[in-house]
Amino acid sequence: MKTIAILYGGKSGEHEVSLISAASIVRNLDPAKYELLLIGITKAGVWLLQEPSVLKQARAKASLKAADEGDMVGLPPIKGGRPVYAAPGAGLVAATPSGGVEALPCDLVFPVLHGTFGEDGTIQGLLECAGLPYVGAGVLGSAVGMDKQVAKELWIREGLPVVDFIAVRKADRANPGFMASLTRKIEARFGWPCFVKPACCGSSVGASKASDLASLEKALDDALLYDEKVLVEQFIVAREIECAVLGNEAPKAFAPGEIVPTHEFYDYEAKYKDPNGAALRIPAPISPQQTEAVMALALRAYKACALSGMARVDFFVDKRTGNVLLNEVNTIPGFTAISMYPRLCGAGGLAYGALLDALVDLAAERFERRASLKFSYEA
Ligand SMILES: Nc1ncnc2c1ncn2[C@@H]1O[C@H](COP(=O)(O)OP(=O)(O)O)[C@@H](O)[C@H]1O
Ligand SMILES: [Mg+2]
Repeated sequence: MKTIAILYGGKSGEHEVSLISAASIVRNLDPAKYELLLIGITKAGVWLLQEPSVLKQARAKASLKAADEGDMVGLPPIKGGRPVYAAPGAGLVAATPSGGVEALPCDLVFPVLHGTFGEDGTIQGLLECAGLPYVGAGVLGSAVGMDKQVAKELWIREGLPVVDFIAVRKADRANPGFMASLTRKIEARFGWPCFVKPACCGSSVGASKASDLASLEKALDDALLYDEKVLVEQFIVAREIECAVLGNEAPKAFAPGEIVPTHEFYDYEAKYKDPNGAALRIPAPISPQQTEAVMALALRAYKACALSGMARVDFFVDKRTGNVLLNEVNTIPGFTAISMYPRLCGAGGLAYGALLDALVDLAAERFERRASLKFSYEA
C-alpha cells in the first residue's frame, strides 16, 4: 500500500479548476492500492492538512471543498501554524504543537495544481529537496512548460512550427515610443488582429484579441496584470487540437482530440463557466496526415521541453492553410472525468484508473532513476 499526498487548490488563477481535477483524481485512485493524504493549499498559499472526513466526502461526492480549515502546515513556517520541513529520507515532517516533529506518512506526491506555484516547477523543486517522488514533469520541464516564450524558443531551435510572436516586458510598456515600435513590428511581421496573453498563465486568464492600437494597449495592460512578460502573437483562425502524451524516456502520444469553442476563442468562460462553451471531439476529425503530424510533433515538443510523466500538447490547425502549429504545453492538464487529457487516454484504451496507476509508476521510476545518480564527488 502506497500513501499518496494529493496537493490541491493553490495560489493560482486556476485554484477552482484544481478542486475539480483533484476531486476526480481522489475518486479514481484505487483505494485497494493507495492511502490518500489530502493537503489543500489556500489561495494565499497556506498548506492545510485535511481531516479524514474531507477525503471521505470527496470520495462520495463530486466536489472537493476548498481548503479553508485544517491543521495548518506550511513552508516557510507560518506564524501560529505547523511548519512542514523538507527532510530528505523522511519526506515531509511537520512540527508538533509542542515543538517536536512528526513524520507524515507519504510515499509519493501527486500535485494536482494548475498554473502558478504548482505547474511551474516551484512545488516540484520543493519536492525534490524533500526527496519525494512526485507525479508529472520535473523542475525544468515544469518551468519551461509554464513559460510560453521559453517553450517556443526551444521548439524553434528544434525546427518545430510555432505561431509567430513578439515578447513584451512590463518594463518596456512605459517607454516612450514603445507602442509605436511594437505596432511597426506587428505590421511588419503578421498584421492585425493579433492575440495577447501572459507568458506564464493558463485557463485563458489575461488573454484577449486586439484589432488596433487602442485594443492592443488594453490587452497588454490586462495581460500584464498576471505576468511581467506577455506574448503578442499572430491571430490564427484555427481549429484547436490537443494531444495527450504519457511517459518518461520513451513517451507515447495518443490520438488527438479537438476542442470546438462556441465563443470567439477558447476563453475562461468557455472553459469553465458556460456549459455549452465548447464541444470535445474525440478523435479529432482531421486528416490521417494531420493526425500523424500532430502526434509526431507532440512527442518532439515533449522531449524538447525535457518533460516526463505526462503533458497535454496543444496545437492550432490553421483553417486557411491547414498547417499544424504548436501552441502550448500543459504539464498538469485538466483532470476532471470530462477533461481532454484523461479522455484521450481513455479513447486510446487507458481507462482513468489505469492512467493514474501509470502516472504513479512513472513518478516512482523517474525518482529511482535519479536516486541512482551520484550526488557526491571524490577526486
Ligand atoms: N495566436 C492565437 N490566435 C488565436 N487564438 C489564440 C491564439 N493564442 C491563443 N488563442 C486562444 O486563446 C486560448 C488560450 O490560449 P493558450 O495559449 O492556450 O493559453 P492558456 O494557457 O491560457 O490555455 C486558446 O485556446 C485559443 O482559443
Ligand atoms: Mg491553452
